Amino acid sequence: MIIRNATRRDKKEISELYYELHPIEEKENKEKGLLVPIEISRIKPLFLVAEEDKKVVEFIWAHFIQYGFFKYGSIDELFVKKEFRGKGIGKRLVEEAVRKLQKMNAKIILVGTEKENKEAINLYQKVGFELGKNSLWFYWNPKKKLSK
Ligand SMILES: CC(C)(COP(=O)(O)OP(=O)(O)OC[C@H]1O[C@@H](n2cnc3c(N)ncnc32)[C@H](O)[C@@H]1OP(=O)(O)O)[C@@H](O)C(=O)NCCC(=O)NCCS
Repeated sequence: MIIRNATRRDKKEISELYYELHPIEEKENKEKGLLVPIEISRIKPLFLVAEEDKKVVEFIWAHFIQYGFFKYGSIDELFVKKEFRGKGIGKRLVEEAVRKLQKMNAKIILVGTEKENKEAINLYQKVGFELGKNSLWFYWNPKKKLSK
């Protein structure tokens, strides 16, 4: 068995595997006979700030990501300066990011935070995010070595 980089010549076989992986989500594209556009892979940053008296007091940094047919949004950084918290600024900025990502046709928007970050958890739930019930997230500890 060899591991190599995929090329466009693999497109047909990759498509067969992809449709096997996502039989429900990609039913329509499969029925249309479309091959998965493996050449499409793009990422678009979305950076918003809130300004008060000409000073930036909050920022949100999100990304729109597309690979093949799949489009999703990721909220990666959010920060409100301490004295401006609790005034609804964070919520408004998250909502604006969600609006923009939806306009770009993101199928899902992901965000992660620490279990003990109650402020952020409450905020995301207030905006309408739900805690994944059937999904698990794994993270890689960079100090760890690959297991053999
Ligand atoms: C999390 C953070 C962005 C919230 O910003 P904010 O502008 O204070 O939030 P908002 O005023 O818009 O509040 C929106 C909702 O968030 C929740 N929330 C905000 N502050 C809270 C607090 N101190 N305790 C509990 N819930 C809180 C509430 O549900 C609130 O809605 P409500 O006021 O109707 O109850 C801000 O505390 C922050 O920058 N924290 C440090 C950085 C951080 O943790 N970033 C998130 C990483 S994922």
